Formats: sequence, C-alpha cells, structure tokens
Amino acid sequence: MEKIVILTGAGISAESGLGTFRDEEGLWAQHAIDDVATPDGFERNPLLVHGFYNARRAQAAKAKPNAAHKALARLEQEHRGEVLIITQNVDSLHEAGGSRNVIHMHGRLNGALCHACEHRWEAPLEMTPTDQCPACYETTTRPDVVWFGEIPYGMHAIDPALAAADLFAAIGTSGNVFPAAAYGQHARRLGAHTVELNLEPSAASRDFKELRHGPASEIVPEWVEELLRDQT
Ligand code: OAD
Repeated sequence: MEKIVILTGAGISAESGLGTFRDEEGLWAQHAIDDVATPDGFERNPLLVHGFYNARRAQAAKAKPNAAHKALARLEQEHRGEVLIITQNVDSLHEAGGSRNVIHMHGRLNGALCHACEHRWEAPLEMTPTDQCPACYETTTRPDVVWFGEIPYGMHAIDPALAAADLFAAIGTSGNVFPAAAYGQHARRLGAHTVELNLEPSAASRDFKELRHGPASEIVPEWVEELLRDQT
C-alpha cells in the first residue's frame, strides 16, 4: 500500500467539538445553505455570511485535534510511502495534529480572499464587509472558503493522486457533496483498495470495498495501527 489518499469530512472533527452539517442538529439544520454558503447569499447579505464564518472561526480556534487527526499525522510520518489528506474541512485540525501533506479542497476558515484581485492572506478572527484587501485596498474581501457553485481547490493535484492511489479511505463524510462524494468510486475503478471509516454507513458506502463504522477517535487509530503493523 505505497500511496495512501485519505478524504476527510466534518465527522473527523466532531469529537473535537466542531459541528457537522447534515446531522439532526447540524449546521444545515440551523442555517440555510443558500444564505451562508453561496456567492449569491454573500452578495445579498455579506454581514450575515461574515457573522456565520466569524462564529465558526472562533469555535475552530478553540478546538484541539483528536485521536483521529493525530493518528493520520502518525501515518504520514511512519508509513514508508506517500500519504495525502484531501479534506473538505475548513478547520486546521489536521495541521494542528501534525499532518503536513493536506489539500483543503473547500478552503480554510483562517484564509481571507479578495475577489477583485484574488490576493490571499491570513484572516483576522472577525471579518467585516468593510475590510480592505491589503493588496488592492478594495472592500471586496471574503472568507477563503469554497461555496456551492464554486470550483473546489486542488483539483489539478487531486485527480492524479486518486489515479495513483493504492489505498483510498474516506473518513467522517456523508458522501453527499460532489465532487468529493465520487472519489471512492473513482479510486476503486482506477484500482485502489477502498475503505470507508464513518460513524454509520454513508450515502456512498456501496463504492467502498471495506467498511468500518464507529467514532473516528476509535476506529481511525485502530486502522492506522493495522496499516503500520502490516508494513513491517
Ligand atoms: P456531513 O455533515 O454531511 O457528514 C458528516 C458525516 O460524519 C456523517 O456521515 C456522520 O455520520 C459522520 N460522523 C459524525 N460524527 C462522527 C464521528 N464522531 N466519527 C466518525 N464519523 C462521524 O459533513 P461532510 O460530509 O464533511 O461544504 O460535508 C461535506 C460538505 O458539505 C462540507 O465540506 C460543506 C458541507 O456543505 C461546503 O460548505 C461547500
């Protein structure tokens, strides 16, 4: 299992106290996607959208990586081949847990973006609609997160990584949002062994050869332990 590609979603950060999206009390039960996670929503009401991401940024700033994030960092360090994490999460818990090779396909809460000149910088804890871009001084700044209707980041790197993967794992994602929801099927067709690690079967479970269900903080360290044991 030389090349390992791991897709992560909100479920891996749930035990760090960050809310998921589609659970009964998830973020999308409390906020309308159209209002807070689309370019149109931001145009209609930037104050509301900044408020939503400011609150998430403040919550994420207090969160600590859990045993699942740390186990993936250990895998990157101790596995003899490559380990790539593709995360849909906008928190920085993979990096805080020690992972280095991470693609944030839906952007980062800690990033700010000017949609006039595309300059990027570290976001302040609180963003407002009157913030100026430090490069062009326009007040066209937004959180550097990918909204519905926008193209995810890193696609040029993700496609070849899926094609080259010997092992593909999806952790803590409900399999509802594309393109990530198709990565299991894609990697399997291209020859990878596929494993889903999630609290419960996801909408994409049938695309995976191996299924492991339970809380990420338990099942991910167990899985990593097995992978590292098998390589010796
Ligand atoms: P979801 O909220 O859709 O799914 C979270 C998954 O994690 C569910 O299948 C849960 O069963 C599972 N889960 C919950 N707690 C868990 C735990 N302790 N251990 C393991 N699994 C657990 O979140 P995502 O699939 O990440 O995009 O959502 C994908 C995208 O939809 C997000 O990146 C976001 C959202 O809309 C944008 O905002 C563009």
